[in-house]
Amino acid sequence: MPPEPSENRELNSSRWFAPDSLRGFGHRSRLKGMGYDDEDFRGKPVVAILNTWSDLNTCHSHFPERVKEVKRGIWQMGGFPVEIPVMSLGEMMMKPTTMLYRNLLAMETEEVLRCHPIDAAVLMGGCDKTVPAMIMGAISADRPAIFLPAGPMLKARWKDQTLGSGSDAWKYWDERRAGNLCDESWGQIENCIARSAGTCMTMGTASTMSAIAESMGFTLPGASSVPAVIAEHSRLAVATGRRAVEMALTDLRPSSFLTPASFDNSIVTSMAIGGSTNAIVHIIAMARRAGIELTLERFDELSRTTPVLANIRPAGKFLMEDFFDSGGLPALLKELGSHIDGTCRTVNGFTLAENVAAAEVIDADIIRSLDNPISATGGTFVLRGNLAPSGCVIKPTAASPRLLDHTGPAVVFDDYAQLKAQLNDPASNITADSVLILRNAGPQGGPGFPEWGMLPIPDHLLKQGVRDLVRISDARMSGTSYGTCVLHVAPEAAVGGPLGLVHNGDLIQLNVEQRSLNLLVDEEVLAERRKAWSPREARYKRGYGAMFLKHVTQADAGCDFDFLHHGADTPDPDIF
Ligand code: FES
Ligand code: MG
Repeated sequence: MPPEPSENRELNSSRWFAPDSLRGFGHRSRLKGMGYDDEDFRGKPVVAILNTWSDLNTCHSHFPERVKEVKRGIWQMGGFPVEIPVMSLGEMMMKPTTMLYRNLLAMETEEVLRCHPIDAAVLMGGCDKTVPAMIMGAISADRPAIFLPAGPMLKARWKDQTLGSGSDAWKYWDERRAGNLCDESWGQIENCIARSAGTCMTMGTASTMSAIAESMGFTLPGASSVPAVIAEHSRLAVATGRRAVEMALTDLRPSSFLTPASFDNSIVTSMAIGGSTNAIVHIIAMARRAGIELTLERFDELSRTTPVLANIRPAGKFLMEDFFDSGGLPALLKELGSHIDGTCRTVNGFTLAENVAAAEVIDADIIRSLDNPISATGGTFVLRGNLAPSGCVIKPTAASPRLLDHTGPAVVFDDYAQLKAQLNDPASNITADSVLILRNAGPQGGPGFPEWGMLPIPDHLLKQGVRDLVRISDARMSGTSYGTCVLHVAPEAAVGGPLGLVHNGDLIQLNVEQRSLNLLVDEEVLAERRKAWSPREARYKRGYGAMFLKHVTQADAGCDFDFLHHGADTPDPDIF
């Protein structure tokens, strides 16, 4: 059973509102100036709703409605709801990449929770980076916090085809470049591929991170799979508001339920759903906020033993709406059985095992059983070798089988601008056996670690029917992307990593089965090249960008700022 609310506990917010002092007077009188009464707030838990809505965050366009529903739940339980806008990271519109701003939203979340009279928070996010950012901030602030995922869009239809966000945009763009798709069809796809409010409805980063939030214990059971615009999502919002009040009363902080096993559960979940490669970076960052030093080795270990059960694009066939209809994440977690530590506690006060006990798989093709998985081992592999001494990742389920053991000559692009300019230049001499390399696209190099890792296939190869090549970069790729793309090469080229030493024509050997990535060039030659290497000029010399470059860590360390890791306590504000 969840713990009983301890009504006598002194609320954080009462430091603002209870004292018979000039300050207390000021705080109360200003709420009254907004039309509130003592009955609205005196002695009640203040629940903040951190809202990442904006008109340019296309995935959160239903949040103005959902906020009202969360508030309804908070009022129902005798709480006092306050809505606080925080930075909106909308994946589609923000340039150069939302990843440049994940840590900024994490900092904002933490500081907003610390400086206000807040007893608990509902974190409203969903579009990719909003999920880890808000959770990182909540972990560091260590206030009771529950996550409300935006939920995926409805699945899209074009003619007799079901379309998935991202994945099908890339696919049909390649067909268009190959000359197989007319302008009219392309226009029709543009009109219908985003069917409703909500996040990408493939198993992209948003769906992956929401599932991770749920498996870590940060949401109500089943929350991560509910489509954004169905009535059940509204009821989820109300229920999340209600539960936040109970969390305030029982002081259920992230530190009271997060354990190393919670993070293992999140890794197993991300593997079993065939989730986005981006999850690795974000899970490491969240764990380190909790003082848990996750390394890539743990991902490698768990990827070797975790089967992929979710048959969702891009690794599989279906979409998030199908996943929900088939039982959603609770059904998948139950199917995972002993791969998950069911004793971990969650925000509703129950354990993960208790939360999924009644779940059932409705369609065994969409959520597979352990004896009929999509693939026997995990969705993301960690590779090492002399080209990536600190590791790199690949999503083998989204790669071409013919390329999983491949040796080929490198074609190197020094940055994205050069890639754009030279990809279709015949002088680049790219063949189906080439290994395309993009460097200076990592956390420092991008800067900001952009999603450039699914390098485009040159037009002439598309016309020959080639749809995949081995592609290696120090960038990330979108969770909706696919192909034989080796990502997150660390250390990145911009800080002197060996990716920066590759020359055109060098042979590169990828062996996914052996988890290896090697540059077949003698160490003496590489040593000469290393001597000749020098860093590029920093792109940002002032402002947030300069701070980012000074403090961001490498991919294998989660790309958090070095000063935000778990450490000494940050004092709560004094209220004089
Ligand atoms: Fe927001 Fe994909 S663009 S979730
Ligand atoms: Mg994305």
